[in-house]
Amino acid sequence: MLATLLTVLALSAPLAASSPLDAVADIAARSKHDKFHGKTLAPSNYTVVPGVFVQDDPKFNATGYDLLSDSFGLLDKSAKRWKNFTKYVTDLNKRADEHTTYKVVYIARHGQGYHNAAESFYGTPAWNCYWAQQKGDGNITWADAELTPLGIAQAQACNDGWKTQLKDGIPLPQRLYSSPMRRSASTLEITWKDILLNKGVKPVIQERWRESIGLHTCDWRNNKSDIATRYPGFEFEPSFTEHDLLWDDTYEETGTQQAKRIRNALNEIFATDPSTFISITAHSGVINAFFKATGHNAFSVQTGGFVPVLLKAVSYPSATFSPIVGGQSATAPSCTADPTVLVKAPATVTVQPTWYPACATVTTTASPSPTGCLASPVTGPAPTATKSA
Ligand SMILES: *[C@@H]1O[C@H](CO)[C@@H](O)[C@H](O)[C@H]1NC(C)=O
Ligand SMILES: *[C@@H]1O[C@H](CO)[C@@H](O)[C@H](O)[C@H]1NC(C)=O
Ligand SMILES: *[C@@H]1O[C@H](CO)[C@@H](O)[C@H](O)[C@H]1NC(C)=O
Ligand SMILES: *[C@@H]1O[C@H](CO)[C@@H](O)[C@H](O)[C@H]1NC(C)=O
Ligand SMILES: *[C@@H]1O[C@H](CO)[C@@H](O)[C@H](O)[C@H]1NC(C)=O
Repeated sequence: MLATLLTVLALSAPLAASSPLDAVADIAARSKHDKFHGKTLAPSNYTVVPGVFVQDDPKFNATGYDLLSDSFGLLDKSAKRWKNFTKYVTDLNKRADEHTTYKVVYIARHGQGYHNAAESFYGTPAWNCYWAQQKGDGNITWADAELTPLGIAQAQACNDGWKTQLKDGIPLPQRLYSSPMRRSASTLEITWKDILLNKGVKPVIQERWRESIGLHTCDWRNNKSDIATRYPGFEFEPSFTEHDLLWDDTYEETGTQQAKRIRNALNEIFATDPSTFISITAHSGVINAFFKATGHNAFSVQTGGFVPVLLKAVSYPSATFSPIVGGQSATAPSCTADPTVLVKAPATVTVQPTWYPACATVTTTASPSPTGCLASPVTGPAPTATKSA
């Protein structure tokens, strides 16, 4: 089911013309250049232009790195750095043949969400085995998680960082793309509210920028009406559905599937949007997939972090994408971590033995046995599951 839907999502052309007039407008839009000589094309390969940002160096060490205090990683530290950078990218585009274009993608991870806080609290094994499949723990809710106060502060720090670089002429994104999840849309809103959103820029929500699909309730999304009410300045891609048709509580998309999805999402942007500078606010899994899809140096980006990437796309029929292999859905992990550890009053939760194998011999233990099997459905400490979303 999930695989089928993913295929449909990958193949659907949201901007497909619906009438002959639309088709003419569509062709006109596709051949447009932006003022930095960027253009649309149907990519057949991506490469990262190296030597511009510290992050594109394979030896880059992300541990403890603070890009906000380092000109976002731009190697050129001169006062004219951003003007030079803009000229450099514009010249690349000017000199590019008809099958080549360059884009700067500012790809961002949302600030800390309640699901991140819960995973830290319960620990990753118990989170993946049990808690990620719950909507919350009776104290906090993490289905389509919202930003924590720390997450809000992280997004605010990005806003401040952009204002600092703006004084030295950093090129602003011409288009803002967002994952449909609340934590990403909120991060985008805080980052850009008084820089671009107040100037009438309308972020575009695209389904494909969402986090790894399935299994974890934090990766299920609210309906379109709810998103539209919460984020009134945002637009939706035409194909965006009212309800989340992709999430499934049994299967989780693999990293390989996700990388293919993200490459398709990039392909669509390159085919329809001539903007040279764009921003995408999404998730850690999406950024990993983006790195895989473009051949960028891989590292993990902290909550509230982002990475500027100078991408070269070509559309030569002879060019080929580097392969992304695999494609089976992953099922829920088989786990032995005890999910009841750390449950605190007044948090009250019904602990189902969801991912525990049955015990060979029946015992009367009312919690997972030391070997990690269960005799019977167990009610954890002070039960009453939160049914809230
Ligand atoms: C201008 O930017 C490019 C690309 O980042 C860099 O290679 C070059 O050294 C810079 N030029 C100056 C004068 O700093
Ligand atoms: C990366 O930096 C951290 C902190 O500075 C350091 O502890 C770690 O050893 C470095 N890793 C590598 C591979 O150099
Ligand atoms: C409830 O969640 C908050 C964070 O939102 C945390 O500070 C507090 O310790 C939690 N309380 C319990 C009882 O788990
Ligand atoms: C959308 O979600 C909101 C919030 O959960 C709910 O109140 C509303 O009824 C839903 N709308 C539709 C059309 O399902
Ligand atoms: C495609 O891009 C990769 C880098 O991602 C490069 O190594 C490869 O040579 C390119 N292949 C073709 C056929 O253009």
